[in-house]
Amino acid sequence: MSSSLYLAKVTPENVDAARRLRVRPDQERFVDPVVISLAEAYAYGEIAWPRVICDGEQMVGFVMAGFDPAHAVEPYRSYLWRLNIAADRQKRGYGSFAVAAVCAEARRRGERRLWVSWVPGDGGPEPFYTRLGFRVTGEVVDGEIVAEREL
Ligand SMILES: CC(C)(COP(=O)(O)OP(=O)(O)OC[C@H]1O[C@@H](n2cnc3c(N)ncnc32)[C@H](O)[C@@H]1OP(=O)(O)O)[C@@H](O)C(=O)NCCC(=O)NCCS
Repeated sequence: MSSSLYLAKVTPENVDAARRLRVRPDQERFVDPVVISLAEAYAYGEIAWPRVICDGEQMVGFVMAGFDPAHAVEPYRSYLWRLNIAADRQKRGYGSFAVAAVCAEARRRGERRLWVSWVPGDGGPEPFYTRLGFRVTGEVVDGEIVAEREL
């Protein structure tokens, strides 16, 4: 994996490139587009942690976490909210890098676990997350499978 990988805040300079990021058409049922995440990031203010994923000069994806430590429902305290790797940049380790970066941010905030949920189905992200150590909790919320990972 490249050593020039980093996450960056969404800024006036990169927001156009961020909103143009697209997953493969057959993957669109598994993740909301970046514009939706940016609207949610605005609405959720301090809770949302949106970042673009960059490899050198190139933007390769978008990731958003949510941190709401006082939330009554445990999975909403520390969770991976969105992950979109550009269609032509997948399977190069960028998604794994983004998950590791979100785990590091969660640990930095004193969290012990990270939750995620996904839409089940062929071509979906389930094998990706289970490979990264997320364990299915048995809960299903809004049709999405809930999983957690110890940090
Ligand atoms: C799922 C997604 C984030 C993975 O990102 P990525 O950059 O391609 O993942 P990586 O390159 O880090 O892959 C890590 C490993 O998981 C595997 N993997 C990735 N996507 C997979 C999939 N859909 N099915 C099976 N394995 C997959 C890779 O082959 C790789 O295995 P390896 O380490 O043995 O080579 C990306 O495919 C994507 O954006 N999908 C569409 C949107 C989506 O589903 N987002 C998640 C919403 S919850």
